[in-house]
Amino acid sequence: MLAQLPPMGWNSWNTFGHNINEQVVRDTADAIVNLGLKDVGYEYVVIDDCWSLRERDENGRMVADPEKFPSGMKALADYVHSKGLKFGMYSCAGTRTCAGYPGSFDYEFIDAKTFADWGVDFLKYDFCYKPRLAPGPILYNRMGMALKASGREILFSACNWGSDEVEKWIRSTGAHMYRSTGDVNDSFRSFKEIAMSQVDKLGYSGPGCYNDIDMLICGMHGKGNVANGGCTDTEYKVHFALWCLFQSPLMIGSDLSVCNEYNLELMKNKELIAINQDPEARPPMLVNGDRERPIFFKHLANGEYVLAFFNFTDHASDGTWGATCEFYDFGLTANSGYGLHLRDIFTGEDIGLKTEYMNVRVESHDCVIYRGTLEKR
Ligand code: GLA
Repeated sequence: MLAQLPPMGWNSWNTFGHNINEQVVRDTADAIVNLGLKDVGYEYVVIDDCWSLRERDENGRMVADPEKFPSGMKALADYVHSKGLKFGMYSCAGTRTCAGYPGSFDYEFIDAKTFADWGVDFLKYDFCYKPRLAPGPILYNRMGMALKASGREILFSACNWGSDEVEKWIRSTGAHMYRSTGDVNDSFRSFKEIAMSQVDKLGYSGPGCYNDIDMLICGMHGKGNVANGGCTDTEYKVHFALWCLFQSPLMIGSDLSVCNEYNLELMKNKELIAINQDPEARPPMLVNGDRERPIFFKHLANGEYVLAFFNFTDHASDGTWGATCEFYDFGLTANSGYGLHLRDIFTGEDIGLKTEYMNVRVESHDCVIYRGTLEKR
């Protein structure tokens, strides 16, 4: 079964946009292996929009742009597969893609077969140029069926930006993940707003079909197709931590040939990835109701818990200003006889048994994340 856990990989859009070509894809596949990203779970190498010619061929089939992909998609898929990775591509439920290339509207079964013939393992499916009266659920279901009929197992990645209350119907179309928001750009504000917009909708996300809060911007540092000022390394840490806590698919968006060491290590952080890949996929609970200094509590499959403190404000928060976590807010009262024995996942430090409440200092635009177990006090 596909997408038992949140899918992990790389997508071309955030950095390369229309400047995508087969050399970039090959180099990225090499980098995913050589940098140890494959070892921690990154698997899908996905070409986003702008890969095809502007017109279909005489048989109605999409054609890869021969200038960008001189060896053809089949050869590229073979290369990606030879690295032990999986190959992804992109199309759109409308008549054209968002960048104006042919879309799959009314060509769904032909296109799914073409992708299967090329050895595609993952299809991102966008929502631009959709005929106004054609319902999204039907269009996604049509491609969902076409992929199933294609003869190849293909992960179906829906991308309708959260329109039409997508979380309520997308599972029924066979999709394995679904974009729930507009596009991320490389700024703190963008990823913060995207993540927080989904806090109340994560209950729909789970094994088989995950809420996708967009590709990662970690390590982009203000360069690339979705540039918007960039983030500090610590802000990228907050970004990655939110994506892991929310169990979003993890699709790297940076150029791996220039991504700095901090961000490579961040995206390989085993503690965070373990939270992202937790098999029960239970949504975190917003404990304190504060959307600028949110505190989240989350169950893990092995019986442990995550307690995560974020600070989106411009001031450090400490016990006197916003970062007090009252344990009764997530149900652990003094009378329970229990506290939480916690470990800081970034420093590894065992901070011991905490009872009733915690004051945690969190620097501006930073986070502190603990993992631990209930323990008798
Ligand atoms: C939409 C999607 C993006 C990207 C572009 C490509 O905006 O949301 O993720 O795929 O289209 O044109």
